[in-house]
Amino acid sequence: MPGSADELSYLEKKVLQTLGKLKKASPEELKAAGKFRELVEVMNAASWLQAKGLVTMKERVVHSFRLASPAAGRKALPERKALRALIKAHGKMSVPKLQAAGKFDDGELAVALGWLRRKGWADVAKTPEGSVVSVTPEGREAAGSKGADELLLARLAKGELPEDAIDPRVLRDLKSRRELVKERESVRREIALTPAGERILAAGLTLKEDVAQPTTELLRSGRWRQVDFRRYDTKAFAPLVRPGKRHVLGAYIERIRRIFLSMGFTEIDGDFVQSAFWNFDALFQPQDHPARDQLDTFYLAKPSTLRLPDESTLGKVAEAHENGGGTGSTGWRYKWDRKEAERAVLRSHTTPVTLKWLMEHPKPPQKAFIIGRNFRPDATDWKHLPEFHQIEGVVMEEGANLAQLIGTIEAFYQRLGFTRVKFRPGYFPYTEPSMEPEGQTSDGRWMELGGSGIFRPEVTVPLGIDSPVLAWGLGLERLVMTIEGLSDIRQLYLSDLDWLRDHRAIL
Ligand code: PHE
Repeated sequence: MPGSADELSYLEKKVLQTLGKLKKASPEELKAAGKFRELVEVMNAASWLQAKGLVTMKERVVHSFRLASPAAGRKALPERKALRALIKAHGKMSVPKLQAAGKFDDGELAVALGWLRRKGWADVAKTPEGSVVSVTPEGREAAGSKGADELLLARLAKGELPEDAIDPRVLRDLKSRRELVKERESVRREIALTPAGERILAAGLTLKEDVAQPTTELLRSGRWRQVDFRRYDTKAFAPLVRPGKRHVLGAYIERIRRIFLSMGFTEIDGDFVQSAFWNFDALFQPQDHPARDQLDTFYLAKPSTLRLPDESTLGKVAEAHENGGGTGSTGWRYKWDRKEAERAVLRSHTTPVTLKWLMEHPKPPQKAFIIGRNFRPDATDWKHLPEFHQIEGVVMEEGANLAQLIGTIEAFYQRLGFTRVKFRPGYFPYTEPSMEPEGQTSDGRWMELGGSGIFRPEVTVPLGIDSPVLAWGLGLERLVMTIEGLSDIRQLYLSDLDWLRDHRAIL
């Protein structure tokens, strides 16, 4: 609730001021009393004032009455016409004569006689010659003035009247006659000051036309010096708008993509289905490594095998595994089996994509990234999903080192606005040294966010890569979960419409 008049618009102040005199009034009355141009000006200002707690607006149904037709106001009532005829005839007439004098049809005659008696203006007596109507002293008196019902008809002829402006008994009589008055139901709004509104009013209002937006005209003419610029009321009510927007995860993918592009990386892409050769063997992952187990990798039934690269590359990779080849390593010392390498898998990480790309682009410097989906037969829980995305990147460059690796990953997280990161040593068969970034969740837990390291010669040399390669694969969902303060990674895939609609737009 505003404590001062500064946050009120010109029209709001004007409504308050007008209400100060009227105390309570309908919008129409306010419009007239405050000399507003349009009723909507009053209505808009009043609803804002209501939202701010400065006025109340009540609605009630009111009945109002008007003539059923313009003729109803002009024509005399039948009993009046009959009375005039009677007086002209010296106070006495037979019924047929009265009907002729008043030009009444049968219906009107019955009405005229009925009301003459009801109003006590005349008596009807039966004689052997037929019914005779004679004026009473009240009738003679009534001849000189209008009755309450006729006065009301005259008022109605000038315009509609609300029920509370009419004597209910007279109204009842008029309503009992057909085709005289019509009733209408409408809603009457009553605007009244609240105590808070009265306080603001008592503190004093200065009415100066205010401006919500500067215009060229205002600036050019210098008139901006005289006008009041309306203050923003940042707490003012505004209707909730929920425009269409990207899904939280999609929005982050877009942001991350822009960050790597702005850091000079090339975006690359690759297949979900890979040979075990690219998913494992080329990465110097021994064929008996537990990660290659059915329990950790999805193997495809169709196709169950894929074509391998050229024999020379295969030979070099096989040698690296068996004895180190020319890499300076002793290798894993087992018999490498190409059958195992041919097996088709759903990629369990995005590293095969970057590695293949490096083999095709062996000339330094190179920087590439992929934000891609990966698959692992993990049981789903608060931090595991069988399908998840990795933000994978490589930097191939002469002299690239660990400090640069950590610095690059940190720079990326920082650009995302995420700083609760630390690095601890890790192990991967394909990198040495290896580091694992960890992020702190909103409840203080540290969670592994991915892996990184410098590719071993056993990986690079067989593929013809001579320069050091910094590599990382970071979990996307875990990162988003940490930044967004989610306690369960599944929230990202629930299609929880309320959460998605209410979520702020991510830019
Ligand atoms: N591929 C690793 C994983 O899936 C991450 C990683 C990528 C580690 C590149 C080192 C280098 O966890």
